[in-house]
Amino acid sequence: MIRSVLLGTGSALPPRRVANDDLAQSLDTSDAWIRERTGIAARRIADASTTTADLATEAAARALAAAGLAPSAIDLVVLATATPDRTFPATATRVQARLGITRGAAFDVAAVCSGFVYALTVADSLLKAGQGQRALVIGAETFSRILDWDDRSTAVLFGDGAGAVVLEARATPEGEAPRGLLAARLRADGRHEDLLYVDGGPGSTGTVGRLRMAGREVFRHAVHNLAEVTGEILAEAAIPVEAIDWLVPHQANLRIIEATARKLGLPMSRVIVTVDEHANTSAASIPLALDCAVRDGRIRQGQLCLLEAMGGGFTWGAVLLRI
Ligand code: ACO
Repeated sequence: MIRSVLLGTGSALPPRRVANDDLAQSLDTSDAWIRERTGIAARRIADASTTTADLATEAAARALAAAGLAPSAIDLVVLATATPDRTFPATATRVQARLGITRGAAFDVAAVCSGFVYALTVADSLLKAGQGQRALVIGAETFSRILDWDDRSTAVLFGDGAGAVVLEARATPEGEAPRGLLAARLRADGRHEDLLYVDGGPGSTGTVGRLRMAGREVFRHAVHNLAEVTGEILAEAAIPVEAIDWLVPHQANLRIIEATARKLGLPMSRVIVTVDEHANTSAASIPLALDCAVRDGRIRQGQLCLLEAMGGGFTWGAVLLRI
């Protein structure tokens, strides 16, 4: 059976680190409040000249280097973002051009914080369908551009960044344990649009929007939906939770991550957490966390990872990945 095997990971963060105390200079908030409610200590914020495509290209180049591949080896670029450089063309085609890739296909996926889980699943399906052999899957965001910097209930939660992975379609050799994407489950329920959205933006409204969120409601849905989808994917794949080496969750809030791990029955020692330093980077958060843990040696070949995310829409989903 053909599976999409992970060959390399990469990430990129803007150099400017903004600590909670820095935000407290201009907002009625405090380091203690933000840490206690979210687990966030700092976030990276892009300078005015850095766009989503810049961060995405840097992360993708690092993933290609880790995979030992030239850009010309890539057939498919799938980029998850809610903060594209332009309404069109897709940011994926910008990244493709900057990397010097002139063949194959490139497009964006819009599923906000679930974007990377969606993009990974779409890329996997295309590779399995024979639409190419190798894919770059990227999550990249500059959420700082769509924040209302006067709204303390949302401005403190997000950051900018990008992460990327290289996938290759491979047949599992006879007698070997399968590597790669083992299972995926995507969900959406558009009835909850008004709990988390941007009130305008490029496209049919002709306005520039800012992020709006009913935090407490989003929290409640996130804990419920993530527990459900992670339970379902493990049951479907007939994998006991003890077999999971690492939970690599979307990094929105430490309390959501802890609640999901608790409901799954996984100790926090097997959960990758980067929300403290990156805050919520939306579609970038999972590949960023994955890259950090691969590079620091925690996540190693052969290990089983459970990825999960939930975001605006609502959209949510989970992926089981043998590294
Ligand atoms: N600093 C200080 N006080 C604040 C701040 C702040 N930054 N933000 C809100 N408050 C105040 C509120 O005004 C409120 O004050 P009041 O009681 O006088 O009215 C009080 O704190 C409590 O506000 P709540 O919103 O009820 O606080 P809560 O404990 O729910 O925490 C939070 C808010 C952190 C946003 C939480 O609801 C949350 O994490 N929700 C999930 C949202 C999320 O992660 N979204 C990301 C996108 S979706 C996803 O990725 C899953």
